Amino acid sequence: MKNKKLVMIPGPTPTVEPIQNQMARETVSFKDPDFVKDFKELVVELKELLGTKGECMVVAGTGTLAMEMAIANTTKQDDNVLIVSHGFFGDRFVDMCKRRGLNTDVLASEWGQTVPVGEIEKKLGEKTYQAITVTHADTSTGTCAPVAKIGKVVRKFEDTLFILDGVCATAAEPEYVDQMGIDVLLTGSQKAFGVAPGLAILWAGPHALKRRTSLGTIPDSYFDFEKWIPIMHDPFKYWGTPPVNLIWALKESVKLIKAEGLENRYRRHKNDARAIQAALEAIGFKILAEPHCRAVTLSNVIYPEGVDDQEFRKLLVEEGVVVAAGLADYAGKAFRLGHMGNIDKHIIVSTLAAIERALHRAGYKVKFGETIRVYMETLLLSESA
Ligand SMILES: Cc1ncc(COP(=O)(O)O)c(C=O)c1O
Repeated sequence: MKNKKLVMIPGPTPTVEPIQNQMARETVSFKDPDFVKDFKELVVELKELLGTKGECMVVAGTGTLAMEMAIANTTKQDDNVLIVSHGFFGDRFVDMCKRRGLNTDVLASEWGQTVPVGEIEKKLGEKTYQAITVTHADTSTGTCAPVAKIGKVVRKFEDTLFILDGVCATAAEPEYVDQMGIDVLLTGSQKAFGVAPGLAILWAGPHALKRRTSLGTIPDSYFDFEKWIPIMHDPFKYWGTPPVNLIWALKESVKLIKAEGLENRYRRHKNDARAIQAALEAIGFKILAEPHCRAVTLSNVIYPEGVDDQEFRKLLVEEGVVVAAGLADYAGKAFRLGHMGNIDKHIIVSTLAAIERALHRAGYKVKFGETIRVYMETLLLSESA
């Protein structure tokens, strides 16, 4: 019998039944009064959830669109942008900014590490930057940036807006927008919200909105906060057709998050991540990110000597688990395991067991059950702490 396939890549993540049900509903007119009410409520709930006095926008698109929107609404040609990069997704801001005629300076870390906050502060003091971009959890490396500390530093520079890419973090890593000094937070639906891909979600705080106003007309209309904000206040109005079912699905996701409790959700992600990482290390894998800056949403897992990446991942699919390949220097040397959103202990235990079976079939000596023992021991200890 074929195993059920668990999609354990770092997004899209597994969707749970209540969210699937929303995606499967018969689509209604986007002017249907019930849908308009749902959409309006969702926007308010999202604003409250992550705490901004500014605005929240939910737009058809992906995280990449949200990255471009953040830049397009806060900068103009020849502005200076400081890009803090902890991997492939941090680097993507460089090309985006250059295409818009922005001057970019890049502070990049080694993969698996983060740029020290002191270095960021020093750089921000060298000239006026209109914006700084930071990737909260870089999906290429599995590192997590110290967002609260960076937010405190950026606050000292009143002309600089803090743009945070939360695509692989929002709804799993603490992000309190106004409180942490985040001016624009952006994410997508397919990661820790546990919805299918297709929504770009942005929170823009008061400073970012002021900046947007100061820019006047911007060249791109689909990207423009000023086109979307009136729709978010009154979704009966039209700008671009809203993806009705995804919006319902996101509303369901927010309902699940509220039922779990945001703090509990953050804690669950942290406890699970640390336990999974300890379990994998116990059987000979290494985790790329250093312990002090490990993401809670995914792990970049380096193979022990003698395990062939292609063969392992093929066997793992046969055992019922899909993971993603390592990137750049880590292609062939590591795999990327997503563990975010609405996954439960059953899914995690099944994933670890499948990893053991695939390793065994690949000829690597495994003590069966070891990952599960370490996962449970670490988890139960942290849950009772
Ligand atoms: C950290 C990060 N930023 C941005 C993106 C781009 O998002 P999308 O693929 O939804 O366009 C991704 C995608 O994986 C990501 O992980």
